[in-house]
Amino acid sequence: MQDSPVIATSDLSEHVDSRVVLRGWLYNKRSSGKLHFLELRDGFGTVQCVMAKSDVGDEVFAAADRVTQESVIEVTGQVKAHPKRAGVVEVVASGFRLLGPTSGEYPISPKEHGTDFLMDHRHLWLRSRRQHAILRVRHTIIQAIRDFFDGRGFTLVDAPIFTPNACEGTSTLFQTDYHGDKAYLTQSGQLYMEAAAAAFGKAYCFGPTFRAEKSKTRRHLAEFWMVEPEVAFMDLEGDMDLAEDFLCFIVERVLERRRPELSVLERDVTKLEAVKKPFPRIRYDEAVALLNEARVEKRKIAAESEVPDFPWGEDLGGEDETIISSRYDRPVMIHRYPAQVKAFYMKRDPTDDRLALCVDVLAPEGYGEVIGGGQREDDLATLERAIETHQLPPEAFSWYLDLRRYGTFPHAGFGLGVERSVAWICGLPHVRETIPFPRMLNRLSP
Ligand code: 4AD
Ligand code: MG
Repeated sequence: MQDSPVIATSDLSEHVDSRVVLRGWLYNKRSSGKLHFLELRDGFGTVQCVMAKSDVGDEVFAAADRVTQESVIEVTGQVKAHPKRAGVVEVVASGFRLLGPTSGEYPISPKEHGTDFLMDHRHLWLRSRRQHAILRVRHTIIQAIRDFFDGRGFTLVDAPIFTPNACEGTSTLFQTDYHGDKAYLTQSGQLYMEAAAAAFGKAYCFGPTFRAEKSKTRRHLAEFWMVEPEVAFMDLEGDMDLAEDFLCFIVERVLERRRPELSVLERDVTKLEAVKKPFPRIRYDEAVALLNEARVEKRKIAAESEVPDFPWGEDLGGEDETIISSRYDRPVMIHRYPAQVKAFYMKRDPTDDRLALCVDVLAPEGYGEVIGGGQREDDLATLERAIETHQLPPEAFSWYLDLRRYGTFPHAGFGLGVERSVAWICGLPHVRETIPFPRMLNRLSP
Protein backbone atom coordinates (compact mmCIF):
# COMPACT_ATOMS: atom_id res chain seq x y z
CA MET A 1 0.00 0.00 0.00
CA GLN A 2 2.78 2.43 0.91
CA ASP A 3 4.34 2.35 -2.54
CA SER A 4 1.94 5.14 -3.59
CA PRO A 5 2.89 8.64 -2.39
CA VAL A 6 0.92 10.51 0.31
CA ILE A 7 -0.55 13.53 -1.47
CA ALA A 8 -2.18 16.70 -0.16
CA THR A 9 -5.73 17.24 -1.41
CA SER A 10 -4.64 20.60 -2.84
CA ASP A 11 -2.18 18.83 -5.19
CA LEU A 12 -4.54 16.15 -6.49
CA SER A 13 -5.13 17.79 -9.86
CA GLU A 14 -1.47 17.09 -10.67
CA HIS A 15 -2.06 13.37 -10.09
CA VAL A 16 -5.07 12.61 -12.25
CA ASP A 17 -5.21 8.89 -13.13
CA SER A 18 -2.45 8.05 -10.62
CA ARG A 19 -2.75 5.97 -7.48
CA VAL A 20 -2.28 8.04 -4.32
CA VAL A 21 -2.59 7.80 -0.56
CA LEU A 22 -4.51 10.48 1.37
CA ARG A 23 -4.51 11.05 5.11
CA GLY A 24 -6.89 13.28 6.95
CA TRP A 25 -10.11 13.62 8.88
CA LEU A 26 -13.54 12.43 7.84
CA TYR A 27 -15.43 15.66 7.16
CA ASN A 28 -18.66 14.12 5.96
CA LYS A 29 -20.08 10.81 4.81
CA ARG A 30 -22.99 9.71 2.65
CA SER A 31 -23.85 6.18 1.75
CA SER A 32 -26.18 4.66 -0.77
CA GLY A 33 -26.38 0.90 -0.73
CA LYS A 34 -23.14 -0.35 -2.19
CA LEU A 35 -21.36 3.04 -2.35
CA HIS A 36 -19.82 5.28 0.33
CA PHE A 37 -19.00 8.91 -0.40
CA LEU A 38 -16.33 9.88 2.11
CA GLU A 39 -15.35 13.53 2.22
CA LEU A 40 -11.77 13.68 3.46
CA ARG A 41 -10.30 16.90 4.87
CA ASP A 42 -6.54 17.23 5.30
CA GLY A 43 -6.04 20.89 6.18
CA PHE A 44 -5.27 21.88 2.59
CA GLY A 45 -8.71 21.18 1.24
CA THR A 46 -11.28 18.43 0.94
CA VAL A 47 -11.91 15.71 -1.61
CA GLN A 48 -14.67 13.23 -2.19
CA CYS A 49 -13.58 9.60 -2.07
CA VAL A 50 -15.99 7.20 -3.72
CA MET A 51 -15.85 3.68 -2.32
CA ALA A 52 -17.66 0.79 -4.02
CA LYS A 53 -18.26 -2.42 -2.06
CA SER A 54 -17.29 -4.38 -5.15
CA ASP A 55 -13.84 -2.66 -5.21
CA VAL A 56 -12.86 -3.00 -1.56
CA GLY A 57 -14.70 -6.08 -0.33
CA ASP A 58 -17.24 -6.54 2.48
CA GLU A 59 -14.87 -6.10 5.40
CA VAL A 60 -13.32 -2.77 4.37
CA PHE A 61 -16.71 -1.51 3.22
CA ALA A 62 -18.20 -2.28 6.63
CA ALA A 63 -15.25 -0.61 8.42
CA ALA A 64 -15.81 2.55 6.37
CA ASP A 65 -19.48 2.39 7.26
CA ARG A 66 -18.67 2.51 10.99
CA VAL A 67 -16.25 5.44 10.80
CA THR A 68 -17.49 8.62 12.48
CA GLN A 69 -17.13 12.33 11.74
CA GLU A 70 -13.58 13.69 12.32
CA SER A 71 -11.98 10.27 12.72
CA VAL A 72 -8.54 10.12 11.12
CA ILE A 73 -8.50 7.94 8.05
CA GLU A 74 -6.22 6.87 5.26
CA VAL A 75 -7.64 6.30 1.81
CA THR A 76 -5.77 4.77 -1.10
CA GLY A 77 -7.18 5.20 -4.56
CA GLN A 78 -7.10 6.40 -8.12
CA VAL A 79 -7.46 10.14 -8.80
CA LYS A 80 -10.17 10.84 -11.39
CA ALA A 81 -11.26 14.07 -13.02
CA HIS A 82 -14.89 14.77 -12.11
CA PRO A 83 -17.04 13.72 -15.08
CA LYS A 84 -19.07 16.96 -15.08
CA ARG A 85 -17.29 19.65 -13.04
CA ALA A 86 -14.13 21.07 -14.62
CA GLY A 87 -11.14 21.34 -12.30
CA VAL A 88 -12.73 19.07 -9.68
CA VAL A 89 -11.23 15.67 -8.88
CA GLU A 90 -12.46 12.61 -7.01
CA VAL A 91 -10.68 9.61 -5.63
CA VAL A 92 -11.94 6.12 -6.41
CA ALA A 93 -11.01 4.23 -3.27
CA SER A 94 -9.28 0.88 -3.34
CA GLY A 95 -8.05 0.83 0.24
CA PHE A 96 -9.07 2.31 3.58
CA ARG A 97 -7.67 2.36 7.12
CA LEU A 98 -8.91 3.94 10.32
CA LEU A 99 -5.86 5.61 11.92
CA GLY A 100 -7.39 7.63 14.73
CA PRO A 101 -10.93 6.96 15.87
CA THR A 102 -13.00 9.56 17.75
CA SER A 103 -14.15 8.63 21.22
CA GLY A 104 -17.79 9.51 21.21
CA GLU A 105 -19.66 11.80 18.92
CA TYR A 106 -17.87 14.85 17.50
CA PRO A 107 -19.40 17.89 19.24
CA ILE A 108 -19.83 20.05 16.13
CA SER A 109 -22.34 18.40 13.84
CA PRO A 110 -23.50 19.82 10.52
CA LYS A 111 -26.61 21.17 12.27
CA GLU A 112 -26.75 24.75 13.53
CA HIS A 113 -24.99 25.66 16.79
CA GLY A 114 -25.14 28.86 18.83
CA THR A 115 -22.16 31.24 18.84
CA ASP A 116 -21.28 30.60 22.49
CA PHE A 117 -21.20 26.87 21.91
CA LEU A 118 -18.97 27.30 18.89
CA MET A 119 -16.69 29.73 20.73
CA ASP A 120 -16.36 27.21 23.59
CA HIS A 121 -15.29 24.66 20.98
CA ARG A 122 -13.07 27.06 19.07
CA HIS A 123 -10.22 24.48 19.09
CA LEU A 124 -12.47 22.19 17.02
CA TRP A 125 -14.45 24.86 15.21
CA LEU A 126 -11.24 25.90 13.38
CA ARG A 127 -11.65 22.76 11.26
CA SER A 128 -14.84 23.96 9.63
CA ARG A 129 -14.88 25.29 6.09
CA ARG A 130 -15.79 28.89 6.98
CA GLN A 131 -13.25 29.25 9.76
CA HIS A 132 -10.63 27.68 7.55
CA ALA A 133 -11.39 30.23 4.82
CA ILE A 134 -11.25 33.18 7.24
CA LEU A 135 -7.92 32.18 8.73
CA ARG A 136 -6.40 31.60 5.33
CA VAL A 137 -7.43 35.13 4.33
CA ARG A 138 -5.88 36.33 7.60
CA HIS A 139 -2.67 34.53 6.71
CA THR A 140 -2.57 36.22 3.32
CA ILE A 141 -3.25 39.65 4.85
CA ILE A 142 -0.36 39.16 7.27
CA GLN A 143 1.95 38.04 4.49
CA ALA A 144 0.91 41.08 2.41
CA ILE A 145 1.60 43.38 5.36
CA ARG A 146 5.15 42.07 5.68
CA ASP A 147 5.78 42.10 1.92
CA PHE A 148 4.56 45.69 1.65
CA PHE A 149 6.95 47.10 4.25
CA ASP A 150 9.82 44.75 3.47
CA GLY A 151 9.59 45.82 -0.17
CA ARG A 152 9.82 49.51 0.70
CA GLY A 153 12.99 49.69 2.72
CA PHE A 154 11.45 49.33 6.19
CA THR A 155 13.34 47.51 8.94
CA LEU A 156 11.33 45.25 11.24
CA VAL A 157 12.02 46.33 14.84
CA ASP A 158 10.09 44.28 17.39
CA ALA A 159 8.56 46.25 20.25
CA PRO A 160 8.37 44.84 23.79
CA ILE A 161 5.16 43.44 25.25
CA PHE A 162 5.90 44.31 28.91
CA THR A 163 6.05 48.08 29.16
CA PRO A 164 6.52 50.59 31.97
CA ASN A 165 4.17 53.18 30.43
CA ALA A 166 0.84 53.78 28.70
CA CYS A 167 0.68 54.74 25.04
CA GLU A 168 -3.04 55.02 24.35
CA GLY A 169 -4.49 56.35 27.61
CA THR A 170 -4.46 54.81 31.07
CA SER A 171 -8.05 53.55 31.11
CA THR A 172 -7.38 50.50 28.92
CA LEU A 173 -4.18 49.16 30.49
CA PHE A 174 -3.71 45.56 31.58
CA GLN A 175 -1.53 45.73 34.66
CA THR A 176 0.76 42.93 35.70
CA ASP A 177 3.36 42.26 38.36
CA TYR A 178 6.90 42.43 37.04
CA HIS A 179 9.17 41.05 39.77
CA GLY A 180 7.56 43.35 42.28
CA ASP A 181 7.23 46.32 39.92
CA LYS A 182 4.14 47.45 38.06
CA ALA A 183 4.21 46.70 34.35
CA TYR A 184 1.61 46.85 31.61
CA LEU A 185 0.89 44.76 28.56
CA THR A 186 1.60 46.95 25.58
CA GLN A 187 -1.25 48.89 23.97
CA SER A 188 0.90 49.87 21.00
CA GLY A 189 4.55 49.65 19.96
CA GLN A 190 4.48 53.19 18.63
CA LEU A 191 6.72 54.91 21.18
CA TYR A 192 9.38 52.30 20.50
CA MET A 193 8.95 52.73 16.76
CA GLU A 194 9.70 56.43 17.18
CA ALA A 195 13.04 55.40 18.66
CA ALA A 196 13.44 52.96 15.77
CA ALA A 197 12.64 55.64 13.15
CA ALA A 198 15.57 57.71 14.46
CA ALA A 199 17.80 54.64 14.20
CA PHE A 200 16.56 53.18 10.88
CA GLY A 201 14.63 55.93 9.04
CA LYS A 202 11.73 53.61 8.23
CA ALA A 203 10.75 50.97 10.78
CA TYR A 204 7.76 48.82 11.63
CA CYS A 205 6.70 46.48 14.37
CA PHE A 206 4.10 43.77 14.15
CA GLY A 207 2.82 41.94 17.16
CA PRO A 208 0.06 41.40 19.68
CA THR A 209 -1.25 44.42 21.58
CA PHE A 210 -3.63 44.58 24.52
CA ARG A 211 -6.54 46.76 25.58
CA ALA A 212 -8.49 46.28 28.78
CA GLU A 213 -11.58 47.84 27.25
CA LYS A 214 -14.70 47.00 29.22
CA SER A 215 -16.76 47.44 26.08
CA LYS A 216 -18.49 44.47 24.53
CA THR A 217 -18.68 45.49 20.91
CA ARG A 218 -18.27 43.66 17.63
CA ARG A 219 -15.05 45.58 16.96
CA HIS A 220 -13.12 45.18 20.22
CA LEU A 221 -10.78 42.45 21.33
CA ALA A 222 -8.67 42.44 24.49
CA GLU A 223 -5.74 41.04 22.51
CA PHE A 224 -5.28 41.98 18.86
CA TRP A 225 -2.49 42.19 16.32
CA MET A 226 -1.29 45.53 15.11
CA VAL A 227 1.30 46.54 12.52
CA GLU A 228 2.85 49.93 13.11
CA PRO A 229 5.09 51.69 10.60
CA GLU A 230 6.96 54.84 11.63
CA VAL A 231 8.87 57.06 9.19
CA ALA A 232 11.38 59.85 9.76
CA PHE A 233 10.75 63.13 7.90
CA MET A 234 7.22 62.10 6.92
CA ASP A 235 4.31 64.46 7.58
CA LEU A 236 0.56 63.83 7.88
CA GLU A 237 0.05 63.98 4.09
CA GLY A 238 2.80 61.42 3.57
CA ASP A 239 1.26 59.27 6.29
CA MET A 240 -2.09 59.28 4.47
CA ASP A 241 -0.37 58.43 1.16
CA LEU A 242 1.34 55.49 2.84
CA ALA A 243 -1.88 54.22 4.46
CA GLU A 244 -3.69 54.45 1.12
CA ASP A 245 -1.02 52.50 -0.80
CA PHE A 246 -0.86 49.97 2.01
CA LEU A 247 -4.60 49.20 2.07
CA CYS A 248 -4.74 48.95 -1.74
CA PHE A 249 -1.82 46.51 -1.66
CA ILE A 250 -3.47 44.28 0.95
CA VAL A 251 -6.86 44.17 -0.78
CA GLU A 252 -5.27 43.48 -4.18
CA ARG A 253 -3.23 40.63 -2.73
CA VAL A 254 -6.27 38.98 -1.18
CA LEU A 255 -8.21 39.31 -4.45
CA GLU A 256 -5.27 37.78 -6.28
CA ARG A 257 -4.75 34.79 -3.98
CA ARG A 258 -7.92 34.10 -1.99
CA ARG A 259 -10.86 34.14 -4.40
CA PRO A 260 -11.93 30.59 -3.45
CA GLU A 261 -11.97 31.50 0.25
CA LEU A 262 -13.90 34.74 -0.40
CA SER A 263 -16.41 32.67 -2.32
CA VAL A 264 -16.84 30.23 0.62
CA LEU A 265 -17.54 33.33 2.73
CA GLU A 266 -19.99 34.62 0.11
CA ARG A 267 -18.11 37.92 0.09
CA ASP A 268 -19.27 40.42 -2.51
CA VAL A 269 -15.88 40.92 -4.19
CA THR A 270 -17.06 43.87 -6.29
CA LYS A 271 -16.95 45.86 -3.03
CA LEU A 272 -13.28 44.94 -2.63
CA GLU A 273 -12.49 45.59 -6.27
CA ALA A 274 -13.66 49.18 -5.75
CA VAL A 275 -10.87 49.80 -3.24
CA LYS A 276 -8.64 51.96 -5.43
CA LYS A 277 -6.67 55.17 -4.98
CA PRO A 278 -7.45 57.95 -4.28
CA PHE A 279 -9.39 57.55 -1.03
CA PRO A 280 -11.51 60.53 0.03
CA ARG A 281 -9.77 62.67 2.67
CA ILE A 282 -12.04 64.79 4.82
CA ARG A 283 -11.36 66.95 7.84
CA TYR A 284 -13.04 66.20 11.17
CA ASP A 285 -14.97 69.46 10.66
CA GLU A 286 -16.38 68.15 7.39
CA ALA A 287 -17.25 64.85 9.05
CA VAL A 288 -19.20 66.74 11.72
CA ALA A 289 -21.03 68.66 8.97
CA LEU A 290 -21.96 65.35 7.29
CA LEU A 291 -23.27 63.98 10.59
CA ASN A 292 -25.36 67.06 11.12
CA GLU A 293 -26.76 66.75 7.61
CA ALA A 294 -27.80 63.20 8.47
CA ARG A 295 -29.44 64.52 11.64
CA VAL A 296 -31.54 66.97 9.64
CA GLU A 297 -33.00 63.93 7.91
CA LYS A 298 -33.54 62.18 11.23
CA ARG A 299 -35.40 65.18 12.62
CA LYS A 300 -37.98 64.84 9.91
CA ILE A 301 -39.11 61.64 11.62
CA ALA A 302 -38.34 62.46 15.28
CA ALA A 303 -39.08 65.45 17.47
CA GLU A 304 -36.53 68.26 17.02
CA SER A 305 -35.28 68.12 20.62
CA GLU A 306 -34.51 64.41 20.43
CA VAL A 307 -31.88 64.89 17.75
CA PRO A 308 -29.35 67.53 18.82
CA ASP A 309 -26.43 68.57 16.60
CA PHE A 310 -23.23 66.55 16.86
CA PRO A 311 -21.20 68.26 19.59
CA TRP A 312 -17.98 69.58 18.03
CA GLY A 313 -15.03 68.32 20.05
CA GLU A 314 -16.31 64.84 20.72
CA ASP A 315 -14.86 61.67 19.27
CA LEU A 316 -16.85 59.86 16.60
CA GLY A 317 -18.71 56.77 17.77
CA GLY A 318 -19.20 53.55 15.85
CA GLU A 319 -22.56 54.69 14.50
CA ASP A 320 -21.16 58.03 13.37
CA GLU A 321 -18.38 56.21 11.55
CA THR A 322 -20.93 54.05 9.76
CA ILE A 323 -22.94 57.09 8.64
CA ILE A 324 -19.82 58.65 7.15
CA SER A 325 -18.26 55.56 5.60
CA SER A 326 -21.54 54.50 3.96
CA ARG A 327 -21.29 57.59 1.71
CA TYR A 328 -18.25 56.19 -0.06
CA ASP A 329 -17.38 53.01 -1.94
CA ARG A 330 -13.80 52.92 -0.61
CA PRO A 331 -12.03 53.65 2.68
CA VAL A 332 -12.36 57.24 3.89
CA MET A 333 -9.68 59.13 5.78
CA ILE A 334 -10.78 61.56 8.47
CA HIS A 335 -8.00 63.88 9.57
CA ARG A 336 -7.42 66.69 12.06
CA TYR A 337 -9.59 65.60 15.02
CA PRO A 338 -9.78 67.84 18.08
CA ALA A 339 -6.56 67.21 20.03
CA GLN A 340 -8.60 66.75 23.23
CA VAL A 341 -9.95 63.35 22.08
CA LYS A 342 -6.58 62.04 20.92
CA ALA A 343 -3.44 60.70 22.59
CA PHE A 344 -0.77 62.91 24.18
CA TYR A 345 1.84 62.39 21.45
CA MET A 346 -0.14 63.93 18.58
CA LYS A 347 1.34 67.02 16.95
CA ARG A 348 -0.91 70.07 16.95
CA ASP A 349 -1.94 71.62 13.66
CA PRO A 350 0.18 74.80 13.36
CA THR A 351 -2.75 76.57 11.63
CA ASP A 352 -5.29 75.67 14.35
CA ASP A 353 -4.01 74.71 17.77
CA ARG A 354 -7.26 72.94 18.74
CA LEU A 355 -6.60 70.24 16.16
CA ALA A 356 -4.22 67.28 16.05
CA LEU A 357 -2.36 66.25 12.88
CA CYS A 358 -3.91 62.82 12.98
CA VAL A 359 -5.88 60.50 10.74
CA ASP A 360 -8.35 57.65 11.18
CA VAL A 361 -9.07 55.45 8.19
CA LEU A 362 -12.59 53.99 8.14
CA ALA A 363 -13.23 50.86 6.12
CA PRO A 364 -16.23 50.98 3.78
CA GLU A 365 -19.56 49.20 4.41
CA GLY A 366 -19.57 50.15 8.10
CA TYR A 367 -16.61 48.02 9.22
CA GLY A 368 -15.22 50.92 11.23
CA GLU A 369 -11.77 52.30 11.92
CA VAL A 370 -9.00 50.03 10.66
CA ILE A 371 -6.11 52.51 10.89
CA GLY A 372 -5.26 55.23 13.38
CA GLY A 373 -2.16 57.39 13.17
CA GLY A 374 -0.63 60.77 12.47
CA GLN A 375 2.28 63.08 12.92
CA ARG A 376 4.04 63.08 16.29
CA GLU A 377 4.84 66.05 18.50
CA ASP A 378 8.55 66.71 18.00
CA ASP A 379 8.95 69.75 20.25
CA LEU A 380 10.31 68.82 23.69
CA ALA A 381 8.58 71.52 25.73
CA THR A 382 5.18 70.95 24.07
CA LEU A 383 5.45 67.22 24.64
CA GLU A 384 6.39 67.71 28.30
CA ARG A 385 3.28 69.85 28.75
CA ALA A 386 1.11 67.23 27.00
CA ILE A 387 2.39 64.50 29.34
CA GLU A 388 1.45 66.72 32.27
CA THR A 389 -2.00 67.59 30.90
CA HIS A 390 -2.74 63.91 30.33
CA GLN A 391 -1.60 63.22 33.91
CA LEU A 392 0.95 60.66 32.81
CA PRO A 393 3.91 59.83 35.09
CA PRO A 394 6.87 61.83 33.70
CA GLU A 395 9.52 59.30 34.92
CA ALA A 396 8.09 56.61 32.67
CA PHE A 397 8.43 58.87 29.63
CA SER A 398 11.93 60.14 30.28
CA TRP A 399 13.43 57.78 27.67
CA TYR A 400 10.78 58.86 25.15
CA LEU A 401 11.63 62.51 25.69
CA ASP A 402 15.28 61.71 24.94
CA LEU A 403 14.13 61.26 21.34
CA ARG A 404 13.34 65.01 21.35
CA ARG A 405 16.45 65.92 23.35
CA TYR A 406 18.91 64.19 21.07
CA GLY A 407 18.18 65.12 17.47
CA THR A 408 14.45 65.75 17.26
CA PHE A 409 12.94 65.23 13.81
CA PRO A 410 9.50 65.39 12.19
CA HIS A 411 7.97 61.93 11.89
CA ALA A 412 4.69 60.12 11.46
CA GLY A 413 3.21 56.65 11.43
CA PHE A 414 0.10 54.64 12.00
CA GLY A 415 -1.28 51.39 13.35
CA LEU A 416 -3.45 48.95 11.42
CA GLY A 417 -5.51 46.45 13.37
CA VAL A 418 -5.30 43.04 11.71
CA GLU A 419 -8.59 41.66 13.03
CA ARG A 420 -10.71 44.62 11.93
CA SER A 421 -9.07 44.38 8.53
CA VAL A 422 -9.87 40.67 8.33
CA ALA A 423 -13.48 41.37 9.37
CA TRP A 424 -13.83 43.97 6.63
CA ILE A 425 -12.15 42.00 3.86
CA CYS A 426 -14.00 38.77 4.72
CA GLY A 427 -17.27 40.64 5.31
CA LEU A 428 -17.76 39.45 8.93
CA PRO A 429 -20.04 41.34 11.29
CA HIS A 430 -17.92 40.54 14.38
CA VAL A 431 -14.16 40.37 15.04
CA ARG A 432 -14.42 37.19 17.13
CA GLU A 433 -13.90 34.90 14.13
CA THR A 434 -10.96 36.86 12.72
CA ILE A 435 -8.32 35.57 15.14
CA PRO A 436 -7.64 31.89 15.92
CA PHE A 437 -8.28 32.14 19.68
CA PRO A 438 -10.04 35.41 20.56
CA ARG A 439 -9.61 37.14 23.90
CA MET A 440 -12.62 39.26 24.76
CA LEU A 441 -14.27 40.79 27.80
CA ASN A 442 -15.89 37.49 28.79
CA ARG A 443 -13.64 35.02 27.03
CA LEU A 444 -10.24 33.66 27.97
CA SER A 445 -10.84 30.06 26.90
CA PRO A 446 -9.97 27.87 25.01
O1 4AD B 1 -6.19 53.93 16.94
P1 4AD B 1 -5.27 53.12 17.80
O2 4AD B 1 -5.56 53.06 19.23
O3 4AD B 1 -3.81 53.73 17.52
C1 4AD B 1 -2.67 53.39 18.15
O4 4AD B 1 -2.52 52.52 18.97
C2 4AD B 1 -1.48 54.15 17.63
N1 4AD B 1 -0.45 54.17 18.67
C3 4AD B 1 -0.98 53.50 16.37
C4 4AD B 1 0.19 54.22 15.75
O5 4AD B 1 0.04 55.35 15.34
N2 4AD B 1 1.33 53.58 15.68
O6 4AD B 1 -5.21 51.64 17.24
C5 4AD B 1 -4.84 51.39 15.90
C6 4AD B 1 -5.76 50.37 15.28
C7 4AD B 1 -7.22 50.78 15.18
O7 4AD B 1 -7.47 51.57 14.05
C8 4AD B 1 -7.92 49.43 15.09
O8 4AD B 1 -7.83 48.90 13.78
C9 4AD B 1 -7.05 48.58 16.00
O9 4AD B 1 -5.78 49.18 16.07
N3 4AD B 1 -7.63 48.46 17.34
C10 4AD B 1 -8.33 47.38 17.79
N4 4AD B 1 -8.66 46.24 17.18
C11 4AD B 1 -9.36 45.32 17.91
N5 4AD B 1 -9.71 45.49 19.19
C12 4AD B 1 -9.39 46.64 19.84
N6 4AD B 1 -9.71 46.79 21.13
C13 4AD B 1 -8.65 47.66 19.13
N7 4AD B 1 -8.16 48.87 19.45
C14 4AD B 1 -7.56 49.34 18.36
MG1 MG C 1 -7.98 54.95 17.00
